[in-house]
Amino acid sequence: MVTIQHALRAATAQLRAVSETARLDAELLLAHTLGWSRAKVVAERDHPLTPEQQARFAALVARRAEREPVAYLIGRREFFGLELQVDRRVLIPRPETEVLVELAIAEARRYGDAPITIADIGVGSGAIAIALAMHLPRATLYGVDLSAGALEVAAANIARYHLQDRITLLEGDLLAPLPGPVDLIVSNPPYTILNEIDEGVYRHEPHLALDGGPDGLDCYRRLIAAAPAYLTPKGAILLEIGAWQAAAVVHLLHLALPQAEVGVQQDLAGRDRVVWARNLDVIR
Ligand SMILES: C[S@@+](CC[C@H](N)C(=O)[O-])C[C@H]1O[C@@H](n2cnc3c(N)ncnc32)[C@H](O)[C@@H]1O
Repeated sequence: MVTIQHALRAATAQLRAVSETARLDAELLLAHTLGWSRAKVVAERDHPLTPEQQARFAALVARRAEREPVAYLIGRREFFGLELQVDRRVLIPRPETEVLVELAIAEARRYGDAPITIADIGVGSGAIAIALAMHLPRATLYGVDLSAGALEVAAANIARYHLQDRITLLEGDLLAPLPGPVDLIVSNPPYTILNEIDEGVYRHEPHLALDGGPDGLDCYRRLIAAAPAYLTPKGAILLEIGAWQAAAVVHLLHLALPQAEVGVQQDLAGRDRVVWARNLDVIR
């Protein structure tokens, strides 16, 4: 008889070579297989698995052993206290991006009770836009993406949180689809250099979401050059960056918005994570 305990032990050993979180991965995959919570899986270690459950679990573990991310295998990921549907059409939301969301919420609160418009450029799963909408009831949002598949995933997540009336999805390139200037532009654009990233990420996540060009800065250059025409006089732009990109992105912002106040925010690990610029009209 194969119990939960046996199955988890074998799967953890199998995944150790590819994952630093092998035990957790195994628990999440088994919970998904059984339709249980992870807590129940951990608590009921002597529960026997049917041959059919063993086979389905083994298939998921084999895919994880090929470095397929757990979030794609179970079809969901938590972000900023939300549960989002994810699949191979979207980047898996990363915890680092919560820094961008926190800063954007703080920036939006400068407007007090006044309505505010926000554009999330490269909306992907909808992670940033949905988190902002949930915390900023006076905000109206646009989510732009070049990927029709990503927009389908975003639409499903937006519907799940009943935000269809507040978040409008637009297909197209960067700022071009926006109907006019907005108070806040937020973006976690593709910024990696493809041949430098983790193998599992490279093999499984969408390259359109990752590829920032030869130096990782392609999207920042075009987005920042276009930003002045799409920002209200008191508006701000907040951009997630790779830890090595702050100086280059700050430079681009000074060139495009010479009148703006510009700053860099670190993440919890102390790495540069967000660069922002605020048109100075907001504090006049
Ligand atoms: C790094 S992912 C961010 C996804 C999501 N905002 C998040 O933080 O989890 C970048 C997103 O930008 C989209 N994208 C890439 N190039 C784009 C472009 N030129 N215009 C609009 N969206 C683009 C990709 O399809 C992808 O969904």
